[in-house]
Amino acid sequence: MGKKRISIIGSTGSIGTQALEVLEKLQDKFEIIALAGGHNKELLDAQAKKFKPKYTVLGEQGLEKICSDKENDIILVACSGKIGLRPTLTAIKNGINIALANKETLVMAGDIVMREAKKHGVKIIPVDSEHCAIHQCIKDISQVDKLIITASGGPFLHKSVDDMKNATVKEALAHPKWHMGKKITVDSATLMNKGLEIIEAHHLFGFDYDDIEVVIHPQSIVHSAIEYKDGSVIAQLGLPSMHIPIQYAISYPERFEGIKSKSFSFAEIARLDFEKPDFEKFPCVKLAYKAGKTGGTMTTCLNAANEEAVFAFLDGKIKLYNIYEIVEKMMSEHKVIQNPTIDEIFEVDKDIREKTKKFIKNYAK
Ligand SMILES: NC(=O)c1ccc[n+]([C@@H]2O[C@H](COP(=O)([O-])OP(=O)(O)OC[C@H]3O[C@@H](n4cnc5c(N)ncnc54)[C@H](OP(=O)(O)O)[C@@H]3O)[C@@H](O)[C@H]2O)c1
Repeated sequence: MGKKRISIIGSTGSIGTQALEVLEKLQDKFEIIALAGGHNKELLDAQAKKFKPKYTVLGEQGLEKICSDKENDIILVACSGKIGLRPTLTAIKNGINIALANKETLVMAGDIVMREAKKHGVKIIPVDSEHCAIHQCIKDISQVDKLIITASGGPFLHKSVDDMKNATVKEALAHPKWHMGKKITVDSATLMNKGLEIIEAHHLFGFDYDDIEVVIHPQSIVHSAIEYKDGSVIAQLGLPSMHIPIQYAISYPERFEGIKSKSFSFAEIARLDFEKPDFEKFPCVKLAYKAGKTGGTMTTCLNAANEEAVFAFLDGKIKLYNIYEIVEKMMSEHKVIQNPTIDEIFEVDKDIREKTKKFIKNYAK
């Protein structure tokens, strides 16, 4: 079999650079067609020199070119935020399989993305470690009753609500287990990240929100699990590393050694802890369930308001806890469109972002 031809959108980010580390080990299996970065020209140029893709693009405009390029067998969508949606849809329409890291794509427009993927016979293979775990566990989806998504709990798991309310940007970015981009790290601190993952799981695997459970697991060894009809639970375990789910997603249905994690030892790990999430302390998870169950453009609203609020927090304009209050306010005022078109989704996204920014301006005074 020839080499699999791949492009990476967001090659200069946390997932993108780790994907290139995987590809460095799998040079006999993959050919890199294109790499895309946002603003980091220096790193993109260095990557081009080292990995010799056919071309590179910088900025959002070039992404359509990559996603229309039928030379690709698979595209890893690893940019952050709302910019992932449009190129993903373009790639799907061109029949190109997607390894999807960008979770905002499914949160914004999961119904449309999954419908288009089905129509064009395109596989959406999850990169997120939790969904990758579920993907690996499921053999016959009709026999599965429940999805169990694990959460490390982030830096404030055992801190008080007051600590969380007064958290600095530095404290919020100090994730105990994962080194990731700033946006997802703040989402992990508020647990909104888990909320986004619940919505992602609903679309990827077609489960009702009531059948998707979250459990806190601080060691991040059990990446997620599924419960079968007879009560049997199958979980996927591994040492915390994004290399493995990235490698699995781009290689699927094959499995390569490439980057191999250290051999797993239950005895060395010795204990695995689990606890119920405290939704009063981390109310963003409740908001995500509510948005998901409401459906239509409510998850688009949640995503847009959250993204703008996270940027404002990173800019020092609001406190960490304000993120929840802002998203809740935007959701409470949003007039939901059920079964929206993609244009309606982009309009709602734009409108909510403007409203959120305006609200933050007054809020921050
Ligand atoms: N990191 C993880 O462990 C992890 C795990 C699961 C899921 N995810 C998801 O994967 C996605 C990426 O996360 P990350 O942590 O890798 O984020 P990140 O480190 O912030 O990287 C984001 C990437 O997107 C690119 N980008 C930003 N604006 C762009 C634009 N306008 N046009 C084109 N590219 C643009 C950035 O380019 P420049 O840096 O060059 O500006 C960078 O390559 C997110 O949706 C996140 O939720 C991440």
